[in-house]
Amino acid sequence: MNRIQDRAIPGIELEGIGKKYGDRYAIRGISLSVAQGEFLSIVGPSGCGKTTILRLVAGFIRPDEGIVRIGADMDGVPPNRRRVGIVFQNYALFPNMTLAENVAFGMKAQKRPEADIRRRVSELLEMVGMSDRADALPRQLSGGQQQRIALARALAIEPRVLLLDEPLSALDAKVRNALRFEIKRIQRESGITMLYVTHDQEEALSISDRVGLMNRGRLEQVGTPLELYSAPSSLFAADFIGVNNILRGTWDGAGGFTWNGRVLRAGGNVPAGPATLTIRPEHLSPADAEDAGDNVLEGIVQGKIFLGPVTRVACSIGEETLLMDLLSTDGDRLGSGQALRVCFSVKEAHLLPDAAL
Ligand SMILES: Nc1ncnc2c1ncn2[C@@H]1O[C@H](COP(=O)(O)OP(=O)(O)O)[C@@H](O)[C@H]1O
Ligand SMILES: [Mg+2]
Repeated sequence: MNRIQDRAIPGIELEGIGKKYGDRYAIRGISLSVAQGEFLSIVGPSGCGKTTILRLVAGFIRPDEGIVRIGADMDGVPPNRRRVGIVFQNYALFPNMTLAENVAFGMKAQKRPEADIRRRVSELLEMVGMSDRADALPRQLSGGQQQRIALARALAIEPRVLLLDEPLSALDAKVRNALRFEIKRIQRESGITMLYVTHDQEEALSISDRVGLMNRGRLEQVGTPLELYSAPSSLFAADFIGVNNILRGTWDGAGGFTWNGRVLRAGGNVPAGPATLTIRPEHLSPADAEDAGDNVLEGIVQGKIFLGPVTRVACSIGEETLLMDLLSTDGDRLGSGQALRVCFSVKEAHLLPDAAL
């Protein structure tokens, strides 16, 4: 079953999509191509238009502008002819059917031979790790187990693409983490194109080939998880993805960034004027006399939180506070009120145009 992802063949293509509710655009100017066999997540805050994109692809609503292609132009093609599978946040299993019947439902509607259906149901239950519960009813299952069945049911009709709208958001952290791995594995094994929507940036980064970051109805940046994390193209991206220190100051256009009454060394392709410098907590470190980075700041430890392997230290620098991640073995030695010199190098700091957040 191991099909190889083919970047050359588009699974889903959105071209210049706009959708209005009343006279307001919910989304606008959305162009995005998901390759066949690719796992692409759309992430962004609540209300930014993620579900609207899925509903357009599924065919529940029509765009006011632009083209949706799944292989071919889908304009006028009803949802049941698009060969898309959908998994929602709230499971939506048929309560009076056994799990096997739930999974078989779409194939029965397709009037597949009985023997095929039986074979496929058992394959799918096996794939989602629910073989031993074929005759159970949905209410006898936990949320996580129900979502496994919802996945199997969506895959049963052999869709060309699978759309998932916050499928793990209703589950507790432990189950959510386990199911992330499962969904990723199932996607890899089935080779299906997945368009996955979540408001949880950590989730999006952890399971996707690429991530599309949305903000207020627009696609802000599309890239691999590493690209979004290490090279955010806007202040919104820098702030939304992961944890960041955001230093608002003034860039002189020639290597000097004035912030908080200090001049820091920086570099970047940004016009002189108000700007922001973003630095990840893991790129700040205590400045030992010898190996101080390009920028050294005199600070005071305000507090710290233990995150397992790392400890996040809040350090006040004058009026401002920066977060610094240290290995917990090192962070353990720091106490509140202690003076601490903090450093970072120019290449780890990201200069971006200033913007409202
Ligand atoms: N049926 C609708 N009628 C009017 N406005 C809607 C409708 N559905 C969504 N919206 C609006 O469109 C925007 C995007 O919504 P949605 O796609 O559900 O966002 P998300 O899934 O990212 O939370 C929001 O401002 C929302 O209020
Ligand atoms: Mg939504």
